Amino acid sequence: MASSFETILKKASIFKEKDVLSPHYLPETLPHREKEIDRIMHIVSPALRCNRTQNLFVYGKTGTGKTSSVKYVMELFEKERTPSHMLYMNCRIYNSRYRVLQHVVKEFVPRFYKPGYGVSFLYEKILDWVEEDGKSLVIVLDEIDMVRDLDDLIYTLIRSNDDLKRGHVSVIGISNKVNFKEKLTPRSKSTLCETELVFPPYNSPQLKSILEQRVKQAFEQGVVDEEALSLSAAIAAQETGDARYALRLMLRAGELAEQAGEKRVEACQVEEARKSVDENVAIDAICTLPEHQQLVLHSIACLTAGGGKYSKL
Ligand SMILES: Nc1ncnc2c1ncn2[C@@H]1O[C@H](COP(=O)(O)OP(=O)(O)OP(=O)(O)O)[C@@H](O)[C@H]1O
Ligand SMILES: [Mg+2]
Repeated sequence: MASSFETILKKASIFKEKDVLSPHYLPETLPHREKEIDRIMHIVSPALRCNRTQNLFVYGKTGTGKTSSVKYVMELFEKERTPSHMLYMNCRIYNSRYRVLQHVVKEFVPRFYKPGYGVSFLYEKILDWVEEDGKSLVIVLDEIDMVRDLDDLIYTLIRSNDDLKRGHVSVIGISNKVNFKEKLTPRSKSTLCETELVFPPYNSPQLKSILEQRVKQAFEQGVVDEEALSLSAAIAAQETGDARYALRLMLRAGELAEQAGEKRVEACQVEEARKSVDENVAIDAICTLPEHQQLVLHSIACLTAGGGKYSKL
């Protein structure tokens, strides 16, 4: 007999709050990032008094807590009484100078957010808005390496400080492409990297405590076996020290246990989860490659599968 929504929803789950394991969830505290958070807070604190903040470039491998730490500081910043603002944007979406400026206008002076306005118009409106009360605007550009005309963008944003009669604009750039700054012109590089902050990968005990915090909220009490937790942390530490990967493993292991009707998540489900997560990671990585790189990969795969002298490509 087909199930009803009611029976599906009523079915006891080993999860208490599954969303806590989602990569978009911002936990209340970020263990092992206290030093980095403190540093970011010190860097942006002058903005609270409408003073200039140094530009900051944050980098480190994927899943090391860069986005979460900056967002954490932003939440604290927004609670303070100040005319200044921090604005976050992901440059996968806002990937050009035009889109970044347009987004600032949309957020703060929406009456001028209309298609067709040129860069200089948007720039002037932002400057007027900053000058109104001499505020400090800190623009957070996450995945900054995705901006197509980054040199122009940095130049425009930072030059605004010369054109402003009062108030300031500064940038926090975030990237996991460690070599990306070498591609910037020397001027952009020295501007953006006025201050730098590196997020190191997590080790196994650190990942374990990060997982423990999330598992407590995400699963019903006592569901996750201690060995399963240690194994997820150890696998993720061995791979890249990526907390997102560790969380994905835990989520998948939980789903597999639930599908199998198990009441506990054990090491064997983590092993199984590893295979499916690795497959998904590979699919995600290939899907986001530019088309010509996908074609090269396809050709290599065909040659390898075809055997002969190319079998070891
Ligand atoms: N110290 C931490 N404590 C708790 N959770 C963490 C911590 N660091 C990272 N996470 C979790 O790991 C996941 C990835 O973190 P985040 O998105 O901040 O990484 P990132 O460094 O920005 O990665 P990427 O370079 O891929 O964008 C998120 O779900 C986040 O909540
Ligand atoms: Mg990030």
